[in-house]
Amino acid sequence: MQLPPQRFVQPLSDGAVDVSTVLMTAADAIPTLPGFDSTLALLAEGYTFASRRCRRLGADAFHTRLGGRPVTFMLGTDASHFFWSGGRFDRHWAIPPTATHLLQDAGSSQTLEGAEHRHRKRMFLELLEPPERGRMQSIFRTEWDTAVDRWCSAESIVLLDELQRVLTRTALRWAGFELVAADPALRAFQFGTLVENAGRFGPRNWAAQLVRRSAERWGNEVIRGVRNGEIAVDETSAIARVATHTDLEGRMLPIDVATVELLNILRPVVAIARFIVFAALCLHAVPRWRATFADGDESDLTNFVNEVRRHAPFFPLMGVRARRAVDWRGNAFSRGDWVLLDLYGTNHDPRLWPEPNRFRPERFRDWQGDPYSLIPQGGGHYLEDHRCAGEPVTIELMRTAVRALTRRIGYEVPPQDLRVSLRHFPAGPASGLRISHISAGRGDWSQEPD
Ligand code: HEM
Repeated sequence: MQLPPQRFVQPLSDGAVDVSTVLMTAADAIPTLPGFDSTLALLAEGYTFASRRCRRLGADAFHTRLGGRPVTFMLGTDASHFFWSGGRFDRHWAIPPTATHLLQDAGSSQTLEGAEHRHRKRMFLELLEPPERGRMQSIFRTEWDTAVDRWCSAESIVLLDELQRVLTRTALRWAGFELVAADPALRAFQFGTLVENAGRFGPRNWAAQLVRRSAERWGNEVIRGVRNGEIAVDETSAIARVATHTDLEGRMLPIDVATVELLNILRPVVAIARFIVFAALCLHAVPRWRATFADGDESDLTNFVNEVRRHAPFFPLMGVRARRAVDWRGNAFSRGDWVLLDLYGTNHDPRLWPEPNRFRPERFRDWQGDPYSLIPQGGGHYLEDHRCAGEPVTIELMRTAVRALTRRIGYEVPPQDLRVSLRHFPAGPASGLRISHISAGRGDWSQEPD
């Protein structure tokens, strides 16, 4: 039964602009925001756009339009379950092409469903099994120590930039590249640019698209070279595995698709720099955690890392389109309907995370590991769903980085602009986190597996 539309006004407790009225159509029906389109409001409010509206509406979802196109925003663990499980959705035209081209791109595992997806995903998961993760950690430690030698003679460094270089060298070496031939400085610039500009529109995004094209040309040459034997690589290396991966019919991937997937294991390793910068920011803001880890007490190290990932504004939303008619709490979605899940809002949902804006690693001590509540890197299961294949290695590299920041170097954080704007995707401290007076060798990597 449809209730007549009613209009009500809610106080703007968080000082937000606009949208103080909503049209409700039925008690459990998904409400529709007033006004024709929410594009400008989303750009103005950024990460908190959807959760503010859900809070005001007392709803886990609402309909609106973006760029004139109807869309449903959703948040919360129930929405997350609906979104990731059961193969209801695909990702075609579900995020702006300006972002897609800089990130996963056409033909990637993210664009596949069903058996084809599982087959491709298995390759990623095998590439990132525990021994390989251990090898990546060990390369990261070596690259970190090499970088620290340089940092110690610098007046100060910008941690985000430096970590992107360290992680690029780590990713390239781990994947099987000869460092010099792979031009790590250029790759660090390219991968950093792709992530930094994925959420922007206009000239900066256009410039990043050109950077993407040049990274693809390099990737194409690598895939061709490995396939025709001009580039010699170990056949068990990630480059060789991606270059020679075959689909379910036993055909090698088209060169462009293999290139996309090669970039999809290198670029995200470099993106971990952003999470590590947030970890450093949290160590700075809450010094007792620095002291705890410096003393070698690691009982909350994984909890700390998970709290950083929960708290840090990284990917704000994930977009999908319904593959068939589906139903959520009595609301019908037709094939092709567009849905955006609020990752940041779900990671800050007070029903799941009491006092969500407080940084409190202890909250993870009793956490049961629900695959639909902590979703900075997607939800659901690794093989069947689209949950990020790189989540375990992200956690391990972040653990290593926290050890490095608390035991391996000493440093100061000089006055600077550390504000994090929630309007810019992806967010980060304005200064990139500058550190100075860096000294080496304060501790070891103890408790670190080889
Ligand atoms: C900065 C850390 C990272 C973040 C925030 C992140 C985030 C995400 C997100 C949100 C998804 C999409 C889930 C979906 O489509 O529903 C995803 C998928 C994926 N990520 Fe990550 N990721 C990170 C690191 C990594 C790393 C280190 C790797 C590999 C080395 C990786 C490889 C992948 C792959 C292959 C997929 C596609 C999975 C699929 O389609 O099934 N990611 N990631």
